[in-house]
Amino acid sequence: REQRIKDIYALLEEASEYYQQQLREHSTKDSAVDYLKNRGLTGQFAARFGIGYAPPGWDNLLKKLARDNDTKLRLEQAGMLIHKEDSERYYDRFRERIMFPIRDMRGRVIAFGGRVLGDEKPKYLNSPETDTFHKSRELYGLYEARKFNQSLDRLIIVEGYMDVVGLAQYGIGYAVATLGTATTAQHLERLLKMVPEVIFCFDGDQAGRKAAKRALDTTMPVITDGKQARFLFLPDGEDPDSLVRQEGCDLFEKRIREALPLSDFFFKTLEEGADMSSLDGRARFSNEALPLIDQMQPGILKQMMQEKISELTGLSLEQLISVNNLQEATSP
Ligand code: UTP
Ligand code: MN
Ligand code: MN
Ligand code: MN
Ligand code: MN
Repeated sequence: REQRIKDIYALLEEASEYYQQQLREHSTKDSAVDYLKNRGLTGQFAARFGIGYAPPGWDNLLKKLARDNDTKLRLEQAGMLIHKEDSERYYDRFRERIMFPIRDMRGRVIAFGGRVLGDEKPKYLNSPETDTFHKSRELYGLYEARKFNQSLDRLIIVEGYMDVVGLAQYGIGYAVATLGTATTAQHLERLLKMVPEVIFCFDGDQAGRKAAKRALDTTMPVITDGKQARFLFLPDGEDPDSLVRQEGCDLFEKRIREALPLSDFFFKTLEEGADMSSLDGRARFSNEALPLIDQMQPGILKQMMQEKISELTGLSLEQLISVNNLQEATSP
């Protein structure tokens, strides 16, 4: 098993080099190079992130890397080849796409994301879960952020590959992306070990706002005093990549500085659905908020958030807690 995993890492590295070479040399490379240029990507940052090109065709990588049957099997296990059912045939998973290698903390290539050059669907294709790639743990750009920053005070969590790359190119080289999945507690625990502050910055659309609410739920139980989570909301229709290109680094950094602290976002979200002018509304609000706050780690922030409920309701903390316990004890 040990050797098998080693082989897989080596093949993924080879694949990454192959894709980068194709971006320089393939007969159809112009379409890819033009695409990247049109998006404003510079050669320097394409190189920093190891961006490459999977040319059109079903068996380019297969022919290049699959020396023998054993290697074919490894490439399948690496997520790079697809085994056609009930046959001996294999074909390339990634075809005619811009390739983003995903690295682990040690810089090893563990997976890829691939983007079409046009508007075809799916827009992005990611490697499947493999022995080397666990989506719920890995973050795109984390290796690069650590490598190219002497010290890190914060990390921004964005949705996409191009958000990470675009921000880096505009001097904000500390963004990481979850890989087509929601932010997990594992992601957060990992990041909060490295930096005192994470800032969620999802797309300015319905999906992005939903993702922020989900991120709030995930963050509350893992945040501790001394660590901070904030939420940056973008104008409608923008994502970090599009916005930083439009308004530049300084304005984007201003937005970062003004991002909403977790507790503000929490209360704001709950208040949206409640009529805070009536007792009934405030009671409902409190009943929704208290169990969520209860999941938080013990500490000052938790206490302060509970006290805010206490102010809103006019009930003491002891009363709130006992009402809450009573409810729990009597519910089936
Ligand atoms: P978006 O849908 O916001 O990408 O998905 P985008 O900003 O429009 O992409 P560009 O700027 O045109 O290139 C954000 C992220 O969600 C994942 C990818 O990681 C992507 O970067 N995603 C998106 C997928 O995994 N599959 C998809 O089909 C779409
Ligand atoms: Mn198989
Ligand atoms: Mn989006
Ligand atoms: Mn985008
Ligand atoms: Mn986007």
